[in-house]
Amino acid sequence: MFKLVIDPQKELGYIHPEVQGHFSEHLGRCIYEGVYVGENSDIPNINGMRKDVVEALSELHIPVLRWPGGCFADEYHWKDGIGEKSKRKKMINTNWGGVVEDNSFGTHEYMELCRQLGCKTYINGNVGSGTVQEMSEWVEYMTFDGVSPMAELRKQNGHEAPWTVDYFGVGNENWGCGGNMLPEYYADQFRRYQSYVKNYDPNKKISKIACGPNAQDYEWTETVLRQCHKLSGSWNNAHGFMDGISLHYYTLPYDWSKKGAATGFNEKEWYMTLSKTLFMEELVRKHSAIIESFDPDGNIALIVDEWGTWYDVEEGTNPGFLYQQNTMRDALVAGINLNIFNKHCNRVKMANIAQLVNVLQAVILTEGDRMIKTPTYHVFNMYKHHQGGTLVASHINADTIGLEKEYMVPNLHESCSKDKNGKYHITLANLSCSDPYDIETTLTGNPVKSVKAQIVEGKMDAKNTFDEPDTVSVKDFDSVSSENDKIRFTIPACSVMLLEVELA
Ligand code: AHR
Repeated sequence: MFKLVIDPQKELGYIHPEVQGHFSEHLGRCIYEGVYVGENSDIPNINGMRKDVVEALSELHIPVLRWPGGCFADEYHWKDGIGEKSKRKKMINTNWGGVVEDNSFGTHEYMELCRQLGCKTYINGNVGSGTVQEMSEWVEYMTFDGVSPMAELRKQNGHEAPWTVDYFGVGNENWGCGGNMLPEYYADQFRRYQSYVKNYDPNKKISKIACGPNAQDYEWTETVLRQCHKLSGSWNNAHGFMDGISLHYYTLPYDWSKKGAATGFNEKEWYMTLSKTLFMEELVRKHSAIIESFDPDGNIALIVDEWGTWYDVEEGTNPGFLYQQNTMRDALVAGINLNIFNKHCNRVKMANIAQLVNVLQAVILTEGDRMIKTPTYHVFNMYKHHQGGTLVASHINADTIGLEKEYMVPNLHESCSKDKNGKYHITLANLSCSDPYDIETTLTGNPVKSVKAQIVEGKMDAKNTFDEPDTVSVKDFDSVSSENDKIRFTIPACSVMLLEVELA
């Protein structure tokens, strides 16, 4: 019997809805085909956005969507993506397959997509190959409500009112595809570029995100923070140069030379993948400690704006398109990461899974006019109840399991939050691909009035396909009993559960 202890009296912080954010790049079939098909497509759409995809994504209450990249962001020139579509410049997408980018999805289309999704906006600017002027004008184009060249241009292009830019990323992976910079150099660039990300509307502050480290590059975090964390003293920078610093960490079963297959893997690879996922906890803890040393008041957020699994591409697909299947293993990866973000909610204020549709650990896959929801989608659908909740203290006396010493993992992984109506949501993952476990949950002295449970479960490589789209889905889980402050049930192997609890 494993004991999951929840202490409702210990409220530990606010879970920003944005930790369940998404990332969409001009990469493979994410934007084009995946989300945007154009107004003249036979695929049902509203202003060019696929109706089926927007509807499915809306159910997840997507809080924020990052765009246009990724590596693409640092070669993107926003003016190529505005105005009459037939006249927009075509470019080569050097990072992702060398395909032609026709710029038919640009700023106006992105804003329209966010409008349809009802989500916040997170634009990633170009530091690697763009100018300060270009970045500054983009912000003016999007957010200025007065008389200015860029505001006029926006109006000429059919959008009278300014949009809201909630978050602005000053470069992406500038230690790599975004310019191969050293941290000292990037920090200087960040100070300069961010000066021109102006807050034209004092009531709609743009949160500025600095490019953060690649995984465990703690020196990058330390250097950028040291050079950029201080107050600038300028009129629109009352909170300092930065509101957040990003972290990118992908889960690869092996390494960058041989990542491993998305399906047809063995038990050893299952545990390797989960143990590498759990490394996120150490990364978040250590980078947070560095941020804390410069910003003890918690004003600078850690923004995990790229995370998820990265496997070898599906056979027969363009290697530059990063198209991969999604199984119960990905459901576990999602459940573990989202639990980790919850538990670090005082520093991790946004996270964006890579990527939205058809790329890496996508929540949706499309093929022509067909669409499927992946196991990862269903986990997000259960976890959405944590959005905007209060983190509540929880602990489980987990065992250590696995096949190899190097890749041992806890058998169970949990987090708990309380929503604004006083309901508790406990998410629990069983990391064993073979064993169910008896669980006794205690709400420490608080009698339970009602409990409802849902589950995403299946064999470790269970997946949804276009012919069998519902092999993995969210199901009600009735075998739960409660007595006083205890809830008892058996969690099946290889599953992620949600318990919704009302106290008496
Ligand atoms: O998500 C795919 C790529 O991974 C992004 O473009 C880049 O930022 C990262 O290396």
